[in-house]
Amino acid sequence: MAASATSKLLVSDIASSVDHVPSNYVRPISDRPNLSEVETSGESIPLIDLRELDGPNRADIIHQFAHACSSYGFFQIKNHGVPEKTIERMMTVAREFFRQPENERVKHYSTDTKKTTRLSTSFNVGSEKVSNWRDFLRLHCFPIEDFIDEWPSNPVSFREITSDYATSVRSLVLTLLEAISESLGLEKDRVSNTLGKHGQHMALNYYPPCPQPDLTFGLPGHKDPNLITVLLQDEVSGLQVFKDGKWVAVHPVPNTFIVNIGDQMQVISNDKYKSVLHRAVVNSDKERISIPTFYCPSADAVIGPPQELINEEEGSPAVYKSFTYAEYYEKFWDRALATESCLDLFKVSKI
Ligand code: OGA
Ligand code: NI
Repeated sequence: MAASATSKLLVSDIASSVDHVPSNYVRPISDRPNLSEVETSGESIPLIDLRELDGPNRADIIHQFAHACSSYGFFQIKNHGVPEKTIERMMTVAREFFRQPENERVKHYSTDTKKTTRLSTSFNVGSEKVSNWRDFLRLHCFPIEDFIDEWPSNPVSFREITSDYATSVRSLVLTLLEAISESLGLEKDRVSNTLGKHGQHMALNYYPPCPQPDLTFGLPGHKDPNLITVLLQDEVSGLQVFKDGKWVAVHPVPNTFIVNIGDQMQVISNDKYKSVLHRAVVNSDKERISIPTFYCPSADAVIGPPQELINEEEGSPAVYKSFTYAEYYEKFWDRALATESCLDLFKVSKI
C-alpha cells in the first residue's frame, strides 16, 4: 500500500494495514528513539510505599518524597488506595473504547485543543511537522458534573467507570499534594491552595503496534505542563525518562502508579523540584495503553513561587514570574513539543 495515501484520521486505522510507517511519521535521523542506546535494565526510579504515610513514620515517607522529587522528578507509588478493581475496569473500558469501529470512535474526533472532551491523534496535528504513533481521548474530569455529559456514551459503562476512576485518583492526588507540600517545608495545604478551583484532565493514550518503531515516537520527549501527573500503564513497556544524559525505560509494575512532577510544581517549588523530560516509544508487536491523570490549577489560578520559598538574601530569589495557568497552557499547545518545555518563557530574567 502507498505509504501516504490515506484519508484516515486516526493512526489506529492505518497501523494494521501498513508494513512501513507512512512518511509523515518518519523522524529526521537526528531525532529518532535510538532504542539500542536506552537503559532497559536495573533500577530506574524510586518506589514509595504510601502505607505508612499516615502513621508514626510519616516524616520518613515525606523525606522519601523530597528525595524522589528533587533527584528524579519521577517515582512510583504502591499502596496508593485506588482499588485494584477500579484500575482494572478503567483499563478494560479504555481498551474497549479503542476497539470500537472507526465510525463510533471518530464521532469524538477534534483537532481543537480547547475542547474539553476530544479524540485526536499524534500530539497537535494543527502545529506539528512530524506525526506521532498515538491516538488519544482527552477528557476534563473535575468537577465531573461539568463534563460527564460530554464524555463518550459508548462503551455503555464508560462514564460510570471513568468517573469512579477519576474520583478515586483525585483523592490520591490530594494526598500526594499534602505530602509534596510538606516535603518542601510548606504547610500541607499550601500547594493545594495555590490551584484556584483545581483542574483534572485525563488522557487515554492508545499506541498501536508500529512496523518501524525505530523511526517514530508514540510521544517525543516532553515535560508535562500541569502540576503533577499520575500515570497508569498496561503491562507493555514504552515509557522512558531522561536521567543523567540517558534515556531510561520505566517498566510497568502491577498495582503501582507512576507520578511525575510537572511544570507548575517546578514553578511552585521555585525550582527545588524539576519537571523531567520523558517520552513514549512504540513497539512492533503489541498495542499499548497508558492513562495519565494530569492534575492542574484551574485556568484562572495565578501561579508563582510562594513567599515562603523566596529569600533574596540567602540566594534564593524568585526564579519565575507569576502568571495564570491559562496563559501557560496556551503556550504549551502552540509550541507542539518543539522545545522541551516552555518554563523559560516565564522566568524572572533570562540569563
Ligand atoms: C503523556 C505521557 C507517557 C506514556 O501523556 O504526557 O507522557 O507512557 N505519556 O504514555
Ligand atoms: Ni507526559
